[in-house]
Amino acid sequence: MSDSKSRFAGGPLKTFGRRGGRPLSGRQRVLMDELLPNLRVPVDEPGALDPATLFTDADQVWLEIGFGGGEHVSGQAKANPQTGILASEVFFEGIAKLLGQIEDEGISNVRVWPEDARVMVDGLADDSIDRAFILFPDPWPKARHQKRRIIQPDFLDALARIIKPGGRLRFATDVRSYADEALERFLNHPAFGWTAQAANDWRLAPADHIETRYQMKKLGDIEPVYYDFIISAQS
Ligand SMILES: C[S@@+](CC[C@H](N)C(=O)[O-])C[C@H]1O[C@@H](n2cnc3c(N)ncnc32)[C@H](O)[C@@H]1O
Repeated sequence: MSDSKSRFAGGPLKTFGRRGGRPLSGRQRVLMDELLPNLRVPVDEPGALDPATLFTDADQVWLEIGFGGGEHVSGQAKANPQTGILASEVFFEGIAKLLGQIEDEGISNVRVWPEDARVMVDGLADDSIDRAFILFPDPWPKARHQKRRIIQPDFLDALARIIKPGGRLRFATDVRSYADEALERFLNHPAFGWTAQAANDWRLAPADHIETRYQMKKLGDIEPVYYDFIISAQS
């Protein structure tokens, strides 16, 4: 199944605003037409894909949802060459930007899912991901839009299914209402254990965090918060 529209027809609400922006440059169109098909995550039946099979030399598989311009994905891929990264984004310009970084920097440990991340998550096998990142997701600040936020109880169920026991998830935002709502949802879920021991554990950027151009715009209403969770076995 490759089209998120068919998967979610009449289903969950869209969590993103737009897929198209400025027209892609000639090089970006070539990257989308020629490089993307080689890197596309082969999502098929629900629960069927073991992503370790996509990375012959990797000892871990990580996942990033909504990578924007891709700076965090490419930075983590370079810092962790033994890790395979599944990277998901729906915004064409962002996808093309990541493809440009992959080509320019010779990155070989990233695969791309250019559709709704929730479809890819559904397609992954149980306990197949070591670490997931959801960084500065679309905040949908207006109250009537908040149901579009990607951190929903059923999506946490889906993430808990694919992340290995002992695996980790990092969530970050600079929007107060989202920070509060997401933390409550994670803490109410039996699989997510918050690792913070002291305020600086969530107030300060973790040592391995990589800032993106989006984060640097500081569009939110608070300083960023970083919530790291450890996933426990599901009964
Ligand atoms: C506010 S941006 C942040 C981008 C990036 N994480 C960063 O920190 O720079 C959130 C991104 O998530 C993407 N997004 C939203 N819902 C998504 C979904 N269901 N699947 C994949 N990407 C999604 C949007 O297209 C947008 O580019």
